[in-house]
Amino acid sequence: MTMTHAPDHAGRLLAWYDRHRRALPWRAPAGARTEPYRVWLSEIMLQQTTVATVGDYYRRFVERWPTVEALATAPLDDVLSAWAGLGYYARARNLHACAQAVADRHGGRFPEDEVGLRALPGIGPYTAAAIRAIAFDHKASAVDGNVERVIARLQAIETPLPDAKIELHLRAAELVPARRAGDYAQAMMDLGATVCTPRSPRCVICPLVNRCRGRKRGIAESLPRRRPKAAKPTRRGLAFVLARKDGAILLRKRPPRGLLGGMDEVPSSPWREGKFTAADALDLAPVPARWTLLDGLVRHTFTHFHLELAVARATATTGRLAQLAPGTVWCTLDRLTERALPTVMRKVIAKATLS
Ligand code: ADE
Repeated sequence: MTMTHAPDHAGRLLAWYDRHRRALPWRAPAGARTEPYRVWLSEIMLQQTTVATVGDYYRRFVERWPTVEALATAPLDDVLSAWAGLGYYARARNLHACAQAVADRHGGRFPEDEVGLRALPGIGPYTAAAIRAIAFDHKASAVDGNVERVIARLQAIETPLPDAKIELHLRAAELVPARRAGDYAQAMMDLGATVCTPRSPRCVICPLVNRCRGRKRGIAESLPRRRPKAAKPTRRGLAFVLARKDGAILLRKRPPRGLLGGMDEVPSSPWREGKFTAADALDLAPVPARWTLLDGLVRHTFTHFHLELAVARATATTGRLAQLAPGTVWCTLDRLTERALPTVMRKVIAKATLS
């Protein structure tokens, strides 16, 4: 009889999970399954965002929209404003479109198969596998960046990312057990988050320490290797905060597609690379007014570029308000939290109202 590597590895990991699993808002009690809507919602929120940040957003979403049908019938603007601050806003638009597709095409029930799931907006290979494993206990391999790290270390894979991706995903799939695939997926996530951390992994408490080839070779912490990334460019622009006497601020909506699509913003000049002088950009103000250029910059980093925004502030005088572009609205400071304002815009408004 041959002993395979996989069952033993999975058995140890599952035994560890049974003792050390994290209590997370979307996680069902031991032995129970989380319903697909909640798995899907949490997985979309957790892409590019930490567990600590997602918790409150997740709770607010499921309280307000307890079912996929409820989310499907919500106005997109409500979903975008509930999402504001989580970043990567295409996720929120896809979330809404996906809820509508599940409600309309699937009678409100998430499909269980990979093809059906992948046909839905915003569901890629990782999310489809996570839903299949966690919600349905299918033998699917959910590999995100954390799991890539765990596998690279366990198997001492030294090929740098992203070239190593296919190999890592193949190895990960080989290790998924036939039973308790959902718990196994979550155990891998917990191991990556709490033990097999990017820096200073806690190998002494790792349930897999005896099977870890990276550890055996003394290279675990240096894995996974990565090809150096191209440096991000910096774009610059000037944001205009126009305040009424009562403190209300002028907002406009961004175009529906592209970066921060459909979100609110204060008017601003285009964001471009290259030479930029804030004083020159004052010509692009949304209305003529006595604009004051504030000292300092607001900095924010997106996936593909750094942004530096200078901020100009003015008080609106009633005579000029007739010239406002259509689609702009006034929002009082106490109602800003209800708007779909991305973090970068919250920083701009904070700078203008606090300095
Ligand atoms: N990271 C991504 N998905 C997760 C999940 N379901 N539980 C914990 N961490 C995660």
